[in-house]
Amino acid sequence: MYNGLLHAHSGLRWLLFLFLIIAIIKAFAGWLGKKEYQKADNIIALILLSFTHLMGVIGIVLYFISPNVKSMKEAMSDAFFRFWSMEHGLLMLFAIVLITVGRVKSKKATTDIIKHKTGAIFYTIAFIMILWGGVIQPIILKHSWF
Ligand code: HEM
Repeated sequence: MYNGLLHAHSGLRWLLFLFLIIAIIKAFAGWLGKKEYQKADNIIALILLSFTHLMGVIGIVLYFISPNVKSMKEAMSDAFFRFWSMEHGLLMLFAIVLITVGRVKSKKATTDIIKHKTGAIFYTIAFIMILWGGVIQPIILKHSWF
């Protein structure tokens, strides 16, 4: 079960990343180009939210079964175990909250420009966090370049 979930969690990150990039591009184009908030924008935001939450659920399950998640005492002295036991989960949970809040606030906004602007800001901050904690750091740790 651990291997299957780890592979799913690892592979799904690229889909999440793809939809995050599309959502950001569309949000900025809509905000700066003063465009109407269209059905496609809503669907992309929904797909993004679904992948994000799926990643969160799989991540939480992994947290309880991963051999790389150690007790805080053990994890603190080792950068590899500290990352998987604390930093990764916290950073990704925060990014998931940002994507969720961004989606809810954008949906509730009264004008199309604010809908796009809200998405652009929240998704971009989440993107930076996921790029670091969900893509760059895992690649560095996996290949032990440092
Ligand atoms: C945006 C959300 C997330 C992304 C992009 C992401 C990305 C990743 C990646 C790339 C890996 C490495 C997979 C591999 O070694 O092949 C991983 C593993 C893991 N993630 Fe996440 N993750 C996310 C959310 C979470 C959350 C919310 C938690 C827990 C609260 C979590 C806990 C874990 C754990 C425990 C592992 C396994 C480490 C191991 O056993 O080597 N992840 N994640």
